[in-house]
Amino acid sequence: MDEIRITGGRPLSGTVSVQGSKNAALPMMAASLLHRGVSVLKRCPKIADVFCMEGILKELGACTWWEGHDLYMDCTHADGKEISCVFTGKMRSSVILLGALLGRGGSGCLGYPGGCVIGRRPIDLHLYALRKLGAEIAEGPFSISASCRGLMGAEILFPNISVGATEQGILGAVLANGETCLKNCAREPEIKWLCRYLRGMGADIRGDGGDCIYIRGVEGLKGGEMEVPPDRIVAGTYLCACAATRGKIVLENPPDGELDAFLEVYRKMGGQYKGKSGKLIADASGVGNPIPFLETKVYPGFPTDLQSPLMAVLATISGESCIRESIFEARFKAAAELNRMGAGITVEGHDARIAGGAPLYGSTVYAEELRGGAALVIAALAARGETVVRGYSYICRGYEHICEDLTALGGIIMKDTGTNFYEKNSKSIKPAED
Ligand code: EPZ
Repeated sequence: MDEIRITGGRPLSGTVSVQGSKNAALPMMAASLLHRGVSVLKRCPKIADVFCMEGILKELGACTWWEGHDLYMDCTHADGKEISCVFTGKMRSSVILLGALLGRGGSGCLGYPGGCVIGRRPIDLHLYALRKLGAEIAEGPFSISASCRGLMGAEILFPNISVGATEQGILGAVLANGETCLKNCAREPEIKWLCRYLRGMGADIRGDGGDCIYIRGVEGLKGGEMEVPPDRIVAGTYLCACAATRGKIVLENPPDGELDAFLEVYRKMGGQYKGKSGKLIADASGVGNPIPFLETKVYPGFPTDLQSPLMAVLATISGESCIRESIFEARFKAAAELNRMGAGITVEGHDARIAGGAPLYGSTVYAEELRGGAALVIAALAARGETVVRGYSYICRGYEHICEDLTALGGIIMKDTGTNFYEKNSKSIKPAED
């Protein structure tokens, strides 16, 4: 069964280390295609989305292997042009491979990207950027084909801010002929990490982290080698679990300076925290203040990826809170499931109103996507009794060992390892379906 069982009602306490960032690792893996040789990502998270991206690189002809948490990618012979919908249907970020394929070999074809059910997730901004760089793009009924006789530097003004489209433009521009100026770029930390990785490979990029990024195309890139930064969303998720249970935890290897907007809300709720010798120490015993209004925004605003986990926390706080989701059209999927546990959430368009305070109780709930699934786990840790969270595989897309980590913090979590019995702390890691 694809489920976990959680017995709630205990404050979390203890220490966990934050895994490598999913949303930093994936574009860095795509960037590795731009070098015909070996690149390595250290402290790479062993999660389903990384295994999926690894499967795509292997389908293109790369060789990959792991040494502990270090992922090696030898792209010497990764000259494939097609990525099947088996992979792209599973993972939205597969679309950024188009820019890497064009940069490496002048053509590429991939199935339309899938991903979470949090919104329409169009790719018009991705295709706009590649066309500005000189790519010919044919949008078929089932796949997209792109080709060029060498990408040309261009000025690209994104009409709307998009993390993936910014990454797409960067991956297409680093080997293009001439200079590229990307305007109205996303400023998420993952953009800066991608550019740092590419600079380490010899790319000429500046301005990342701001809204204008300047790239001068180079002849070729050498192998990349970098440590994957800590996952800011995983760190925020664990702090939400701490807040929901009024616990006290220590995060080792926390992201540095990437959670300010979240921590501001955490403090408004009554949480306390401090940084000490590279750790983040959180005391949520004083959490109890509702948040009358909060809106998700592009970075450095409150991250949409922590909207559902925060909703679960607010369901445990007496008083009316309200969250406005301004990035995606359908990112309140967890609300209905949280209501099955006694949360008083009403969704009105882009707003979710949480009439928190009634005790949550265990139930059987269903995850439909990654961060909504994490929210159900958080609520289950605070609820009275046992909760069964089905759809655990959605959660594994981004959380490497959420069960082991939360168990280490005192949570009572058991997961089905596929053999119809529950096992605590199992280390079973499922490789991507080949
Ligand atoms: C990235 O998705 C992240 N995924 C998401 O995290 C994150 O929620 C999102 O950025 C926003 O921060 C990865 O990095 C792998 P966008 P992305 O393009 O790039 C619209 C998670 O849980 N848009 O910034 O797909 C889009 O529909 C995932 O880890 C267009 O209209 O997000 C959305 O409304 C979920 N046209 C808005 O822009 C386009 O061509 C922001 O999306 C592209 C996007």
